[in-house]
Amino acid sequence: MTAQIIDGKAIAENLLTDIKSKIEARITTGKRAPCLAVVLVGADLASAIYVRNKRRACEKVGIRSIAHELPASTSEADLLILIDSLNNDATVDGILVQSPFPPQIRDEAIIERIDVNKDVDGFHPYNIGRLAVRQPTLRSCTPFGVIKMLEASNIELMGLDATIVGVSNHVGRPMALELLLAGCTITSCHRHTKDLANKVKHADLIVAAAGKAGLIQGDWIKPGAIVVDIGINRMADGKICGDVDFNAAKKRASYITPVPGGVGPMTVATLMENTLLALELKEKK
Ligand code: GUN
Repeated sequence: MTAQIIDGKAIAENLLTDIKSKIEARITTGKRAPCLAVVLVGADLASAIYVRNKRRACEKVGIRSIAHELPASTSEADLLILIDSLNNDATVDGILVQSPFPPQIRDEAIIERIDVNKDVDGFHPYNIGRLAVRQPTLRSCTPFGVIKMLEASNIELMGLDATIVGVSNHVGRPMALELLLAGCTITSCHRHTKDLANKVKHADLIVAAAGKAGLIQGDWIKPGAIVVDIGINRMADGKICGDVDFNAAKKRASYITPVPGGVGPMTVATLMENTLLALELKEKK
């Protein structure tokens, strides 16, 4: 068997085209465009590239973006002041503070300060909680992007045994909640999991989000399983690869996502969708 490669880039492009038409339709009826505030603290190269891609996507679909680039020495208190001012700015619909943050800034302090209605990353405990109780509103972008990608590929999730490798707050945990919501039976694996290979081997759907190149071996994949690779690992030669041994796994899987060109573009597309949704929900209030 050779797996069908899921083209996340193409699926994300379709989603962006859809969002663009919805925004154009708003403008023709006299409504304003959504606005996303993008905050970057420090000069981490990878973060700067992600932020640039997000702002380019805004431009593409007609979302106004405002950039705040702060020095790495910014204090947590000063960042909180900026977040408060964005929370209070009625012209801002979404707020994204790119992580990782410099060590003097605590993740949870920042995430919990963002207005839950402007939390377009879907990282706030309120929004994760909404997903946990089957009432998702602003959904974490990467897991939501995975669901949209599988839907666009006509993959039926109901009843599948899904193994998620990785339990981070931003990806692995909300991914497990998304798959539970979609009707999967979920197994979440982490550093203390016994016999990871077996947990992967029995799965109909494997989602790798551990951030460790080559962690998931090809012969762990059940023949016909669906493989989604969220890992983004930079190799010594500068190339990017995922957590799955792609070349071996694609010989056994039915569907597989590549890295790059798989889940990554979907994260950006769902961020655009969330920003539009944040504005639409505000208008309904
Ligand atoms: N850093 C890496 N990915 C993300 C993301 O999706 N959102 C934010 N805010 N920071 C990130």
